[in-house]
Amino acid sequence: MRQDRANEDRRDTAAGVRDFFTPRAADWDSRFADDGPAYAAAVTALGLRTGDAVLDAGCGTGRALPALRAAVGPRGTVLGFDLTPAMLTAAVRAGRDRDGTLALADVARLPLRDGCLDAVFAAGLISHLTDPEDGLSELARAVRPGGTFALFHPVGRAALAARHGRALTPDDLRAEPNLRPLLARCGWRLDTYTDEDTRFLAVSVRQG
Ligand SMILES: C[S@@+](CC[C@H](N)C(=O)[O-])C[C@H]1O[C@@H](n2cnc3c(N)ncnc32)[C@H](O)[C@@H]1O
Repeated sequence: MRQDRANEDRRDTAAGVRDFFTPRAADWDSRFADDGPAYAAAVTALGLRTGDAVLDAGCGTGRALPALRAAVGPRGTVLGFDLTPAMLTAAVRAGRDRDGTLALADVARLPLRDGCLDAVFAAGLISHLTDPEDGLSELARAVRPGGTFALFHPVGRAALAARHGRALTPDDLRAEPNLRPLLARCGWRLDTYTDEDTRFLAVSVRQG
């Protein structure tokens, strides 16, 4: 438990994020090889249309990129940003750069114009953000009013906590009573919230 806490603390900085994910990058896809259909199903919740522009925030090895590309078509724009170079290297090795443009970037400091995106997909990201309010606000800045945002994890909160040998606590960022006001402060309206063993999915809409 103490070690878990230490890991959480180390992840609270950009360097900590890289320290945590760099040694995990090479076998990330093989560890979670069965998740593809769950990612594809979650991407449908964004309501993407042909030609849309979408960002996979904290894309890691780019597991969502094929589904995002399929949703926006060849004329659409798919971006994958991540803070950990080793994750992006693994993404390129897996050929995910065929489905989107990958870049080393902090989602809290996006190299994007205001309102240029139609949607953001973020799998497994929120608990790693140094300052969630800062990060979610910056993502909102880059999305047009009415655009969508999916916070996803292929495992629900309770199942994930059990996997890590810890209990769910009321201050969990992704608990609906905490997440809804946090999103609202950052320019998002939480639209649908699902937290079951096989998936966590919170879909929000960018407020005008
Ligand atoms: C749990 S992994 C999920 C990766 C991928 N989305 C997936 O579902 O396989 C979290 C990822 O978020 C990235 N990350 C964490 N904080 C970030 C930030 N501020 N900006 C960009 N990427 C970040 C990490 O480097 C890591 O690749």
